[in-house]
Amino acid sequence: MVGFSRGAAAAAAGLLSIYSNIQVGMTQDSGNTNAIVADGTAFTLNGDNVSYRFHVDNSTGDLRSDHFGGSLTGPIPAAAEPETQGWVGLQGRVRREFPDQGRGDFRVPAIRIRQTEGYTVSDLQYQSHSVMQGKPALPGLPATFGNEQDVSTLIVHLYDNYSAVAADLMYSVFPKNDAIVRSVNVMNKGDGAITIESLASLSVDMPYEDFDMIGLRGDWAREAHRQRRKVEYGVQGFESTTGYSSHLHNPFLSLVHPTTTESQGEAWGFSLIYTGSFRVDVEKSSQGLTRALLGFNPNQLSWKLGPGETLTSPECVSIYSKDGIGGMSRSMHRLYRNHLVKSKFAKSDRPVLLNSWEGLSFNINQSSIYRLAQESADLGAKLFVMDDGWFGDKYPRVTDNAGLGDWVPNPDRFPNGLEPLVDKVTSLKAANSSTNLRFGIWVEPEMVNPSSVLYHKHPDWVLHAGPYPRTEERNQLVLNVALTEVQDFIIDAVSNILNNSDITYVKWDNNRGIHETPSPSIDHAYMLGLYRVFETLTSRFPNVLWEGCASGGGRFDPGVLQYFPQIWTSDDTDAVERISIQLGTSLAYPPSAMGAHISAVPNQQTGRTVPVTFRGHVAMMGGSFGLELHPAELHEGEKAALPGLISLAEKVNPLVLRGDMYRLSLPEESNWPAVLFISEDGSNAVLFYFQIRANINHAAPWIKLQGLDKQAMYSVQGKGTFSGATLMNMGLQFVLEGDYSSTVVFLERQ
Ligand code: GLA
Repeated sequence: MVGFSRGAAAAAAGLLSIYSNIQVGMTQDSGNTNAIVADGTAFTLNGDNVSYRFHVDNSTGDLRSDHFGGSLTGPIPAAAEPETQGWVGLQGRVRREFPDQGRGDFRVPAIRIRQTEGYTVSDLQYQSHSVMQGKPALPGLPATFGNEQDVSTLIVHLYDNYSAVAADLMYSVFPKNDAIVRSVNVMNKGDGAITIESLASLSVDMPYEDFDMIGLRGDWAREAHRQRRKVEYGVQGFESTTGYSSHLHNPFLSLVHPTTTESQGEAWGFSLIYTGSFRVDVEKSSQGLTRALLGFNPNQLSWKLGPGETLTSPECVSIYSKDGIGGMSRSMHRLYRNHLVKSKFAKSDRPVLLNSWEGLSFNINQSSIYRLAQESADLGAKLFVMDDGWFGDKYPRVTDNAGLGDWVPNPDRFPNGLEPLVDKVTSLKAANSSTNLRFGIWVEPEMVNPSSVLYHKHPDWVLHAGPYPRTEERNQLVLNVALTEVQDFIIDAVSNILNNSDITYVKWDNNRGIHETPSPSIDHAYMLGLYRVFETLTSRFPNVLWEGCASGGGRFDPGVLQYFPQIWTSDDTDAVERISIQLGTSLAYPPSAMGAHISAVPNQQTGRTVPVTFRGHVAMMGGSFGLELHPAELHEGEKAALPGLISLAEKVNPLVLRGDMYRLSLPEESNWPAVLFISEDGSNAVLFYFQIRANINHAAPWIKLQGLDKQAMYSVQGKGTFSGATLMNMGLQFVLEGDYSSTVVFLERQ
């Protein structure tokens, strides 16, 4: 039997180096959930409603995929022996679990290694496996986490005898979340250097079926637009080459059947826990099998491994749901809320904030900031955020062409520094509450303007390719965060700001992509450096509420969410646009992670004028609700509405932070988008219902609720008391007046 005899030798060769606490070949159940079953060399990972199965093919030592879908029990039927006529070899006709390159599989490989001699063939065969309860951390990378009750791990050790390359496939299953996560650890056990040219964290081979693929595409101020298309024969996919996860495409993929809807049918969701460039390929092969791969972008990898060195891929999450796209999203949300976001604020305590950016832009100083903070407190905000424009001494940041890199207060604008201002602001009391206002600040520490002391001192710290021009974008360059000295500089600069005054919120921005790089591998080296910075700062300042931002949602990804519990969803604050952006983002990410603000009208991005109530209702569907405007410039009616909207947002917030989200009606399909949030215990819910255009002389739709208990009775604010069955099968009807009208309705289980 090929492969099995090598097990002991491989273990002896030290393949278990990073998981030395695990017993080889052990078969074990997690708690009483049967989470991982290793039957000889056939493996099953079981969630409450999912099974993931693969086995070792004895004739080749290759791993073959058997199933990823609804729960299986007992033995499974053997797959039919494929025909072997024609050019496509056996490897190209079967479902492979970790397809390497060469040897007749003409599909996109999960790994391509340039061996010491230059070959790009590899032959990674099963050696042994180990099972453990719990889940080890990934060295230097963000990853899901959980205790022994939450998660079990299977590690399959592969080895290429011809080149002495080893690969560990690390699978963990979170049974309650129907989630299986995977990463790959590649080790060079040989004497010469090798190069990893491509590496997918996850590759799944689905059987012959028709699929649609769904991704999130966009651009600056137009993030997360859902794109659904048929998976055709051939390779299709999307990527980011920007150095970051990007606005252009999000590192998220869903596969569904053509008949799957929001609430019905099978849906698979894949989400890569990574902030750098990535690649998603979906290939329907000549044989009709569909392969999906998510991982590093091969154009920006070329990772050299010397003897004894390893490369760990980011982790990829996969979720299966039989309850449609909505079911997939909710499982992903629960997984991320409970097993990804490390912050103590993951599920609580998001103060209503007022951010200075759209109200004051760069025109700030200590008195205008204090005045704005006073007005924020008067309206009932609990956190005041001073955005861009506060720093730079020799090269003051008064526009976007100077100052980045010089993280000291601008002495003209803040002659006494920040401390006394922060003290004054944090002594203000938020209206109608005993809470003191908190102070937050904006930084963009990975960047530098050429007009800065930092750049003059360290021109070599920016990413550049030798003599090629250093292309500026928004007048700025990117620091090479792969360098330890740059990481330390950023850690010190941000620590200084936080040590010197009572600042308890940081908005961490990043406003351009990476252009010129000295080598392709710098992208991943940058990410490892960035994660070190994030890890150091967030553990040093655990009481700070950190918010990610990259010109809005340019880095709305699970890598950032590991460290920062919330992300500014988009620079587009137009409420109508925001419904699409927020609902699109919610395909993969929990609403608790979204920053959403009421801004002034006409909207700065679209010029649209929308009533303040509608703006408020859209913004309170985000976990971090706030205002981004100058109260003094508002109309009387708008200003008068704000305290009421703030208290409504505070009432809704626990449901948004911890509840389940049901997208009842989508903005791309209906004039009446609607969303329902149901509390974890099912006792409370809140319905958001919007009308985009006035509805003249035409019936209004009935909106069918989801996720309620059929038998239970619910009191519906303003409507009466109805059973869950009635609310889900008949629904509710609302007649709203005019363009951009909306309503928020609470439900309570009796
Ligand atoms: C980016 C952010 C905005 C704001 C500006 C400041 O565009 O997305 O929210 O902070 O930078 O320059």
